Amino acid sequence: MPGVTLEDKDRKLEGYEFFRNVLGSPKHIVAPMVDQSELAWRKLSRRYGAQLVYTPMINAKMYAEGARKPFREQNFDTVHGEEGGPEDRPLIVQFCANNPDHLLKSARLLEPFCDAVDINLGCPQDIARRGRYGSFLQDEWDLIYTLINTLHKNLSIPVTAKFRVFPTVEKTVEYAKMLERAGAQMLTCHGRTREQRGHRSGVADWEKIRAVKEAVSVPVVANGNLLFYSDVARCLAATGADAVMSAEGNLYNPALFQPAPVASASASAADGDGDGDGYLAGRHPRNTHVALEYLGIVKAQRTLTTPSAVKGHLFKLLRPALARYTDIRERLGRVRIERAERDKEGGGTAWDKYEEIVRELDERLEGDIDAASGKSLEELSPVDPATGFPVLPHWLLQPYIRPLPAEPDAAKPPAQNEKSGVEVVECPVTVEDSASRGAKRAISEERPAAPRSDGAESVSESKRAKLTEEASSGSSPRTHVDAIAT
Ligand SMILES: Cc1cc2nc3c(=O)[nH]c(=O)nc-3n(C[C@H](O)[C@H](O)[C@H](O)COP(=O)(O)O)c2cc1C
Repeated sequence: MPGVTLEDKDRKLEGYEFFRNVLGSPKHIVAPMVDQSELAWRKLSRRYGAQLVYTPMINAKMYAEGARKPFREQNFDTVHGEEGGPEDRPLIVQFCANNPDHLLKSARLLEPFCDAVDINLGCPQDIARRGRYGSFLQDEWDLIYTLINTLHKNLSIPVTAKFRVFPTVEKTVEYAKMLERAGAQMLTCHGRTREQRGHRSGVADWEKIRAVKEAVSVPVVANGNLLFYSDVARCLAATGADAVMSAEGNLYNPALFQPAPVASASASAADGDGDGDGYLAGRHPRNTHVALEYLGIVKAQRTLTTPSAVKGHLFKLLRPALARYTDIRERLGRVRIERAERDKEGGGTAWDKYEEIVRELDERLEGDIDAASGKSLEELSPVDPATGFPVLPHWLLQPYIRPLPAEPDAAKPPAQNEKSGVEVVECPVTVEDSASRGAKRAISEERPAAPRSDGAESVSESKRAKLTEEASSGSSPRTHVDAIAT
């Protein structure tokens, strides 16, 4: 633990003391992401500059009951000693809950393995409405107060909260102050409202985050709208927040938090090292290399990674290359990992199937890089007129930027975004909570016509329906449908 003294160990640190001495004053934080901020991804993200990472949201009721045996180990493996171990810190475990007893019981089970416990107050999906958690607790302030306060009073580690803004600054600030009064020792403010989801996602409002930061005394983390490295500094300056948190930006480029290693004189298009400022100032490594590195981590650890997480990551990392080499995309989509294979320690040879395909893609990219030799990254990165952002060569990690939807409410650009008509990244399936993967209704409501571009979405509709049925009948397979079916 960074800076924790012997004296500190005997007492529970709060607010900035906790932020500094336990978390090490992180500036770059990777968000909780269902089926995507799993152990292997956390390790990879830390290698590329993340200073604090959250687990995916865990359903406190199901974790507390532990009724179905695999649920606990699927959500947080305490057996192999890797999750929450020395290589997996600092770490915050996130729960969704609407019952303080369930929450406390679950939090106590995991408090030895993490640095704080976070409560998800942001999930806007229908599944959260039905389960009465996430942003649907926004109207139940007494309950939220009790949830936070119960952990504040009874846990040996701090409680934190992640929430969405309200339509007005005043209500948002009042809400944030209530969370602080209840005992939250750090607040993550996602600058979108509960209504901003799916195709209505639009952009996050950094001004509301700024108002929250000015109103509370605990550390504030700003979440939303980070596409490029240069956005990190812009967001910190605009919000005054102590740190930034990224979800989608991190998934498409886990090096989002790192500057390009070399200056413009030796800028190299093969490695994605651009000039000193502007959109290309960040690090954009070769996507196949990072995909292979991620697979290496998955294979080397004893903790299991779900096939849906692996496939989801590969499709996001490799997205621009797969758009060009659609035969490879299809092959990747067809890979199936049988349960017996993946249940072997570290996944046995299950992941070799993916590795083989990624290596083949890498060879093709090598040819493309040779063909482009002599050109700078800037020359190879034309600005897309539909979005106003540069499109990097297809061998490099880069954000997935979609044009803003036509609806006037979602299309309105915020003050900090000079590019009008640009939607700043939104989750391909849902924004707040890919827990709704597997929930057929939620997905079809979110994005009726858009083609799926990532592996997690390559599950057929009939398969989704089956997973949903299985989850609600209590015989769910090992998917994160478990986490959301209540
Ligand atoms: C794949 C995915 C899974 C997510 N799962 C969670 C979750 O488990 N808990 C949570 O609080 N938010 C979750 N979110 C929301 C993010 O944490 C974040 O608040 C949101 O995506 C906005 O940040 P961004 O603009 O950087 O993507 C998820 C987002 C994505 C893209």
